[in-house]
Amino acid sequence: MPPNDMSLEAHWMPFTANRAFKAAPRLVVGAKDMHYLTDDGRKVLDGTSGLWCANAGHCRTKIVEAVKKQAETMDYAPAFQMGHPGSFRVAQRVAKMLPGDLDHVFFCNSGSEAVDTALKIALAYHRARGEGNRNVFVGRERGYHGVGFGGISVGGMPANRKMYGSMLPRVDHLPHTHNLKENAFTRGEPNWGAHLADELETRIIALHDASNIAAVIVEPMAGSAGVLIPPKGYLKRLREICDKYSLLLIFDEVITGFGRTGHAFAAETFGVTPDIITMAKGITNAMVPMGAVAVRRGIYDAVVNSAPPDTVELFHGYTYSGHPLATAAAEATLDVYEEEGLFARAREIAPYFEQAVHALREMPNVIDVRNFGMVAGIELEPRPGKPAERAFKTFLKCYEKGVLIRTTGDIIALSPPLIISKQQVDELVGVLGDALRETGRD
Ligand SMILES: Cc1ncc(COP(=O)(O)O)c(C=O)c1O
Repeated sequence: MPPNDMSLEAHWMPFTANRAFKAAPRLVVGAKDMHYLTDDGRKVLDGTSGLWCANAGHCRTKIVEAVKKQAETMDYAPAFQMGHPGSFRVAQRVAKMLPGDLDHVFFCNSGSEAVDTALKIALAYHRARGEGNRNVFVGRERGYHGVGFGGISVGGMPANRKMYGSMLPRVDHLPHTHNLKENAFTRGEPNWGAHLADELETRIIALHDASNIAAVIVEPMAGSAGVLIPPKGYLKRLREICDKYSLLLIFDEVITGFGRTGHAFAAETFGVTPDIITMAKGITNAMVPMGAVAVRRGIYDAVVNSAPPDTVELFHGYTYSGHPLATAAAEATLDVYEEEGLFARAREIAPYFEQAVHALREMPNVIDVRNFGMVAGIELEPRPGKPAERAFKTFLKCYEKGVLIRTTGDIIALSPPLIISKQQVDELVGVLGDALRETGRD
């Protein structure tokens, strides 16, 4: 509990049931490696890498030291018409990790900003090529692309959209790929569903005409929307259709970037190279907020070369684009990933994790278990008339028992730091199993 003289009232918390939280708060005050420390002195095993972001575990010394040193050396450098070496170094390093000719990187401060930036770049690219009429975006039902107006427009989460009016005017959505009848309890990529990509051609392009469409944006694997794993061949099919009609393909890799699927990016894991990749979260291991957008060389060249020399080419940017503390954190984070071989480690431990989570199918109310890389989704049968309640109760029980999980509706998502040991996988899944048994009796 917070100290008596501290009121929780003034803080309007994001994506939180404010009144319930403030009546029974859950405060964490410390973190190290695989654990959080609560304000009442309990250690909580982190089954979610914070919010899918602390991929190397918490408060890693190398990253802490790098940020401290940068804070003492130079707090801030103006981001427009000025630069500092750190942002150029991070861009170069990230470019080397990216597939194909995705080799130019634009910095921002969050996943939401990365998505809005990517959409703007797509429009600027088509305009630079004399195809400014291409301004329709295609997202996907159940997609999550952050909370900017661009992101909620192409996103497909009804609750995130319904209060906010008309949003971007020209957007269509692919169908989502979730189907328990066909794919329940699949390990890895489901066999059923690649044909759903064909709707891009048969319905959306047919309706809007390709000459009006700027880009298609999807999460290669959806996380926040409830762990939706792409059916085998689905992403490849999207790529083929985009190529056929010169649509840009954007992968939102805000959670899949930096090792979650066993490689630096899911594009590599799935063997499909998009034109633009958005990233955030794991780029700094969550130490300092940072987002980024990587584009293929041709996109950068088209936009930059379309403006007269000595003029600003893209009227877009943030005061804190490439902030020195963020770039210091990013450089140290990339060192940690590399030195500890954490992406390979994710690949190594993923089969153990898969085996462990699939044992949960025996627990009450579990209607699906699915997994890919170091992500798992456990879907529960909703309580009649009370959607999301059963999963949230499970979350609360896990927290009481010293394990942090995450829920979206009645789906439980696990995405532990890539440093998790087998013993900790057992603890995470064991506690979740106990909580599910107890919730099943309620
Ligand atoms: C795929 C995806 N895109 C965008 C975002 C938004 O990122 P942020 O919360 O940093 O704005 C998220 C956040 O979870 C995400 O999962």
